[in-house]
Amino acid sequence: MKAIQLTAPSLDAFLPVELADPAQPGRGRVLVRIKAASLNFADIAVVHGQYPGAVYPNIPLADGAGEVVAVGEDVWQVKAGDRVVIHIKPHWIAGRATAELAGPMRGATVRGSLVEVAELDAATVVKIPDHLSWEEAASLPIAAMTAWRALDTAHIGPGSTVALLGTGGVSIFALQLAKARGARVIITSSSNEKLERARMLKADETFNYRDSPDWDRFVLDRTGGQGVDLVIDPVGGQGFERSLAAVRHGGTVAAIGFLDGAAQPANLMPVIFKEIRVQGSNGGSVADLASAIGAISVHRIRPVVDQIFELDQLKAAYERMGAGAHFGKIAVRTGW
Ligand SMILES: NC(=O)c1ccc[n+]([C@@H]2O[C@H](COP(=O)([O-])OP(=O)(O)OC[C@H]3O[C@@H](n4cnc5c(N)ncnc54)[C@H](OP(=O)(O)O)[C@@H]3O)[C@@H](O)[C@H]2O)c1
Repeated sequence: MKAIQLTAPSLDAFLPVELADPAQPGRGRVLVRIKAASLNFADIAVVHGQYPGAVYPNIPLADGAGEVVAVGEDVWQVKAGDRVVIHIKPHWIAGRATAELAGPMRGATVRGSLVEVAELDAATVVKIPDHLSWEEAASLPIAAMTAWRALDTAHIGPGSTVALLGTGGVSIFALQLAKARGARVIITSSSNEKLERARMLKADETFNYRDSPDWDRFVLDRTGGQGVDLVIDPVGGQGFERSLAAVRHGGTVAAIGFLDGAAQPANLMPVIFKEIRVQGSNGGSVADLASAIGAISVHRIRPVVDQIFELDQLKAAYERMGAGAHFGKIAVRTGW
């Protein structure tokens, strides 16, 4: 069968290869023909040699969607012909993480999605709603799950206000899912055109952080000086102080990324005096992914796929993601 390997941490190291076809699946295992994959910031870290424990050569890309083509004995979750997405962490089925559950990551430390047929634990695939294309479905696992988990942990619902930073994959799912939960959304971007697109997705307030860095003041202004219930912060760095400033007393800052750096120390005083909960995130479990997909199914949310690349355009896909030129998600069609 066909596959793509990333042989070394380099954008020039994608290699089409032929691998042995997988055998009939064993007890509790399934075979999934991969139709599409999507990119996440973690994949950018892998290709630049910055993902801890990443192995080379490896099959890249954590997110994937495809059709079940064979099931082993005792598989009850899916049957041949079902359309599924693949969870990114093959051991973390439900509940709280441990190092053993959260560590292994598809496309980084274990085999990822750019393989014609993936052999998987049946407990790690989740059926997808009919209204989604393969590329839309493939964009769900990391970004939709992370966004959903941050909203759910902070009990976001009608009457809540949420601040989102930038218009990448996690933020745009968070926008769609927060609106589905009845919340008010304030979102920032470096681009007025992207902010216009966010308004079309029902963002209530928008702010260009390139024009002025003071997005936290804007948030305080638009919330009567109180701050928001939740900031989902993919940026980190010095700007993390702004997230602490923008959240209300007793609110939550979901620390999910470090696009602007991870080592910047934050002032603890607002955390203490405002009783802020700083909530980290290391992805989520299969149960978290299934919850996110349940909401996407009920609300018939269409994931925002910025662009679809073919397998021979992988380098361009990674470059677009790395440049932050996209809005929402970038997908890859396998043609398999
Ligand atoms: N911990 C977890 O569980 C978890 C899960 C998923 C992702 N993450 C992390 O979260 C981050 C975002 O992931 P993603 O998949 O959404 O990435 P992405 O799609 O690449 O998002 C990039 C976008 O972030 C915005 N951005 C970049 N630098 C910024 C800055 N200094 N201030 C404000 N916005 C900025 C830009 O939006 P504009 O172009 O609109 O300005 C950019 O397009 C990454 O660091 C990723 O590793 C963590």
